[in-house]
Amino acid sequence: MTEIIHNVTDEWAKRAFIDQKTYQEWYAQSVNDPDAFWGEHGKRLDWFTPYTKVKNTSFEPGNVSIRWFEDGTLNVAHNCIDRHLPHRANQTAIIWEGDDPSESRHITYQELHDRVAELANVLRNRGVEKGDRVTIYLPMIPEAAFAMLACARLGAVHSLVFAGFSPDSLASRIEDCGSKFVITANEGLRGGRKVPLKANVDAALKRVSGVEHVVVVRRTDTDVPMEPGRDVWYHEAIEQVTSECPPVEVNAEDPLFILYTSGSTGKPKGVLHTTGGYLVYAAITHQYVFDYHEGDVYWCTADVGWVTGHSYIVYGPLANGATTLIFEGVPTYPDISRFWQVVDKHNVNIFYTAPTAIRSLMQAGDEPVKKTSRASLRLLGSVGEPINPEAWEWYYRVVGDSRCPVVDTWWQTETGGILIAPLPGATALKPGSATLPFFGVKPGIVDNEGRPQEGAAEGNLVITDSWPGQMRSVYGDHKRFEETYFATYPGCYFTGDGARRDADGYYWITGRVDDVINVSGHRMGTAEVESALVAHAKVSEAAVVGYPHDIKGQGIYAYVTLMEGEEPSDELRKELVAWVRREIGPIASPDLIQFAPGLPKTRSGKIMRRILRKIAEDEFGNLGDTSTLADPTVVDDLVNNRQNRH
Ligand code: WTA
Repeated sequence: MTEIIHNVTDEWAKRAFIDQKTYQEWYAQSVNDPDAFWGEHGKRLDWFTPYTKVKNTSFEPGNVSIRWFEDGTLNVAHNCIDRHLPHRANQTAIIWEGDDPSESRHITYQELHDRVAELANVLRNRGVEKGDRVTIYLPMIPEAAFAMLACARLGAVHSLVFAGFSPDSLASRIEDCGSKFVITANEGLRGGRKVPLKANVDAALKRVSGVEHVVVVRRTDTDVPMEPGRDVWYHEAIEQVTSECPPVEVNAEDPLFILYTSGSTGKPKGVLHTTGGYLVYAAITHQYVFDYHEGDVYWCTADVGWVTGHSYIVYGPLANGATTLIFEGVPTYPDISRFWQVVDKHNVNIFYTAPTAIRSLMQAGDEPVKKTSRASLRLLGSVGEPINPEAWEWYYRVVGDSRCPVVDTWWQTETGGILIAPLPGATALKPGSATLPFFGVKPGIVDNEGRPQEGAAEGNLVITDSWPGQMRSVYGDHKRFEETYFATYPGCYFTGDGARRDADGYYWITGRVDDVINVSGHRMGTAEVESALVAHAKVSEAAVVGYPHDIKGQGIYAYVTLMEGEEPSDELRKELVAWVRREIGPIASPDLIQFAPGLPKTRSGKIMRRILRKIAEDEFGNLGDTSTLADPTVVDDLVNNRQNRH
């Protein structure tokens, strides 16, 4: 196959901050002398006490420690709001576009300041102090950003829980970080449908104790029960406070937030990010990868409940004094042109979304896109999963009218910000490749024995040195942090992804190499779905794998063994799907369930997932060696009863 390359056009180069020569010079300095490079770029923030030390990090097994700017002090809300006020008080900070196209709001930096300070006062009056954890379970409304920034203003640590998660998932996240405070809404609104958020919080709080205060935003007219002494309406509470609240000075290494993410084993981990390095990294990547210029309108369609929403809806853009758009709805409501209608309505210049959205819109053809103008668009971004070259080209040609660079950004909850991506004025684009590392990022490819591979190679993707946005620990479990990320290939951060590096040094992410799957850009541990399934009374065993799905990237394929005496049926299939939705949330719904009398196991009882993956992928002609199975005949049954993917 001949490789397609889109070279940097004169147009892109003229506008961009970073050209190819600058990229090469800065990159060389950033990896050869990180102290000098980050010492300089850390100054993009306002520090109460300037740092004198820059990098102090170790990936040594048993001694993993990551500290950046460690003697500096600052406040994130001050950096995202207050310091902009002298020249941006009346500039729009947030454009909010409601689920219903008739609803939108512009929030200036001054208003953002006032709303954040009020909410910070509300929290402070209820006992929230520096270091306390606050759980935020909100839909895509401006109050979600206010809540994050209000915590940051007090030096409190927020933990957002995606509003699509179940009461159980919410409860376990509240419990794990010992949070005493919850901020939620009576209901959310998505695609014309209401989501019972407060009811979910009430259900969660029956399962976990210790929550003292719940602040409830009124998003819809629906009344919800309020527990006296515990629950308070946001709109009533802010009437009682002023809009002055001095930002609390925190250390660069004090925690900013915890965000739970799925791994290959066990319960979701609380990824811990701290203050100084995280904000420097979110801000600098936002500026250079998206080539954000003064006055641009920037829109990232992610949910604030995921890391992309943290770094590239809220913190990066606001630290840069940008105008950031928050969209409450879905791409298909009221109709399939909605994204582009919003682009035209608010003159969006930079648009950042996920391949799954691009693929599903692509299926509806060009017309719903072409009937909108999109003349304001200047740059398109992609994140969350590998983007196939066909979707990339469609995005480039149809959405961007072959005028806008497409930046495919590879990163993770753990990395805090983008690690591999093109810079629009510097990097020739290859559809399907995230291209080259950002400043300060040292990727490597290792084989399964951990041997570094030089030149063009394929293998496991590692990062060999620290960058400022890196997670610092797993909340409350530093040992798990070391074991998960630094034990597989000692001395390196292991990403869990596979990648190929081509002769030009470009990286092509091939997907997860562990038991994590990526469904519509949502990260999911197969172990979590399995434990939800086996919690059902009729299920004795379950094994979950991913399989290629045209729209979602990967679909969820579950093999289920029933308890003695239970009969497989379509009814039971539906019941199990509904069960998993209730246990985890709709994003974890199995797409296909195969009832299997037995699972392929080794003689020591380990499930051979390789075989299950192959069958789910319809590659059962090539199952490899099955001779080590305790009972090789189970494979025939699995192959004969495989579920149709199409
Ligand atoms: C995948 C989302 C290919 C990858 C920011 C990673 C990608 C996981 C890309 C992290 C991309 C993310 N190309 N794969 N541009 N971006 N991924 O933590 O497998 O929700 O490990 O962070 O998504 O997902 P997470």
